[in-house]
Amino acid sequence: MELNGRVFIVTGGSRGFGLATAKALVSRGARVGLLSRNQAGLDQAVGEIGSDHAFGVASNVAHPEDISRAFEQVKEHFGRLDGLINNAGMARPNAVENLVEEEVLQQVHTNFLGTVFCCQAVIPLLRGGDNPRIVNISSASACHYDEMSHLSIYAATKAAVERFTRDLREELQADNIGVTCVRPGGAWTSFAEGWDPQATMAGFEAWSQAGPYMDTGMEAEQVGDAVAYAVAQPKGVAVDLLEIRPNILTPKGGY
Ligand SMILES: NC(=O)c1ccc[n+]([C@@H]2O[C@H](COP(=O)([O-])OP(=O)(O)OC[C@H]3O[C@@H](n4cnc5c(N)ncnc54)[C@H](OP(=O)(O)O)[C@@H]3O)[C@@H](O)[C@H]2O)c1
Repeated sequence: MELNGRVFIVTGGSRGFGLATAKALVSRGARVGLLSRNQAGLDQAVGEIGSDHAFGVASNVAHPEDISRAFEQVKEHFGRLDGLINNAGMARPNAVENLVEEEVLQQVHTNFLGTVFCCQAVIPLLRGGDNPRIVNISSASACHYDEMSHLSIYAATKAAVERFTRDLREELQADNIGVTCVRPGGAWTSFAEGWDPQATMAGFEAWSQAGPYMDTGMEAEQVGDAVAYAVAQPKGVAVDLLEIRPNILTPKGGY
């Protein structure tokens, strides 16, 4: 199999795109270290994949000391490390004038700084490896305005991830570490859990007025396959940017 024996860390691997990515990697022969804050969610994900191929470490990507410890644990558990999928992320919709400081900081710390800290921690662990990979998960919201309204901070953190990833690619070329940005459009996951209903409804109404149609049809599995495709490239080839979006034109009102 194309990823036989290789080991990847997937942040936010307990559910959604992260779990789908972990399954896509394992189905191609890889083993995965899953990170998220909640141990019960990790246990369930490891149970679904099987403990021969998956190992969970509870940790918060916004805490650099947590991350270094977790990455070392995964490398020790499987005896090697070949790549990192920076997937953990969250959003809190709100109109700009109503933004709540704590939620702004949480999005910046998780989505952007978490990605930065995880990259910093993994580079020394990947250097010298055989075809190592880093994938940073962005969002179509970073550059498409029709995804959802009132996600300005979320979109800005993902735009920051994309710009950061461009420099990372250049810096890591000399180490033969392939760097990819995957930019998914919307698919149903637990991503909107915890959103304030009033702020979400205001965002939904603004988005509804922006046009009569939305795109639907994509599942988390297709995002997982896209990530697996990127990391399965041979030495000397890196997918720089991979955008994958739903493509069924659906009336917003009827959804
Ligand atoms: N769903 C979409 O439509 C969509 C579209 C474009 C891009 N994305 C991006 O895709 C990625 C995954 O989204 P999803 O839809 O799969 O979301 P999800 O279902 O909410 O899953 C998020 C995952 O991240 C973990 N997580 C959140 N904050 C964390 C932190 N500080 N430290 C460690 N783990 C953390 C969560 O576990 P814990 O809560 O236990 O920590 C969970 O495993 C995100 O980066 C998101 O921005 C999603």
